[in-house]
Amino acid sequence: MEIQQETSVADSTASSLSETDVGQRPPLLEVRDLTKSFGGLRAVDHCSFQVEQGTITGLIGPNGAGKTTVFNLMTGFIPPDSGRILLGGQDIGHLRPDQIFARGLCRTFQIPREHGTMSVLENLMLVPPGQSGEHWWNALLRPGRVRAEEARHLDKAREVLEYLQLTPVRHEYAANLSGGQKKLLEMGRMLMADPQIVLLDEPAAGVNRTLLQSIVRNIQALSRERGITFLLIEHDMNMVMNLCDPVIVMSEGRKLAEGAPDTVRGDPAVLEAYLGGQYAAAAG
Ligand SMILES: Nc1ncnc2c1ncn2[C@@H]1O[C@H](COP(=O)(O)OP(=O)(O)OP(=O)(O)O)[C@@H](O)[C@H]1O
Ligand SMILES: [Mg+2]
Repeated sequence: MEIQQETSVADSTASSLSETDVGQRPPLLEVRDLTKSFGGLRAVDHCSFQVEQGTITGLIGPNGAGKTTVFNLMTGFIPPDSGRILLGGQDIGHLRPDQIFARGLCRTFQIPREHGTMSVLENLMLVPPGQSGEHWWNALLRPGRVRAEEARHLDKAREVLEYLQLTPVRHEYAANLSGGQKKLLEMGRMLMADPQIVLLDEPAAGVNRTLLQSIVRNIQALSRERGITFLLIEHDMNMVMNLCDPVIVMSEGRKLAEGAPDTVRGDPAVLEAYLGGQYAAAAG
């Protein structure tokens, strides 16, 4: 089984590289002809788009357009019916969620909810996988290495707490945080994993203006200072227009439009998708 998987990764990598122009880096994340049906409903319908490295890309569209389903497919939560998902040119369509996470594709709400009876700091310390201390023989044979790793891990957690301004509540039970602080903690848990690309599904939903501004600033800083790429689903158009470039528009499972925020905002097809027959009637 393992060997077959390895072979298919190698095959798919080779074929995707041969399809890419020589010397050009493949897009960081790409979906090609992705399709997923639930019973008779085609939620994602031959959808193709790319997310370039270093961008904060917006993914918008009316309710039920298939945006969250695309996230579920990209993160390995549900298998596609057909089509491909490529991360850095490598096919990840067959991988498990934890394998995809380990490759640096993270999603805030894919991480289990906060552990309410643990402190904020302990929640962060839970995240990184594959610590030496997890193996009893390492603890027994290489206690120094385990201690050094734990110390690095703790330093990183402290840095993340500072970064997200959660240091004052680090010893608080996670259950006692406000809804907004829990969102920041989720982002912190994601940062502990050193992501390449982060998928955010409606980060502004249910968040007050002040916290929203802080989330926006965090996303911009993480993009600028750490080179993290973002793909962000959002219904708050102000946030999308200020934060994202490019913006991809989905409608009825397909990519309807893509471009700079201003271009997309003025696209009649996009307006029609949002407003349905109303726009068509008004325009006609
Ligand atoms: N697990 C599922 N089983 C059955 N139908 C589903 C499932 N997940 C999604 N759907 C359906 O697929 C379609 C697309 O849903 P999806 O959640 O991807 O839309 P969305 O673009 O994220 O919408 P919203 O903006 O409202 O969150 C909807 O009609 C939804 O009811
Ligand atoms: Mg959704």
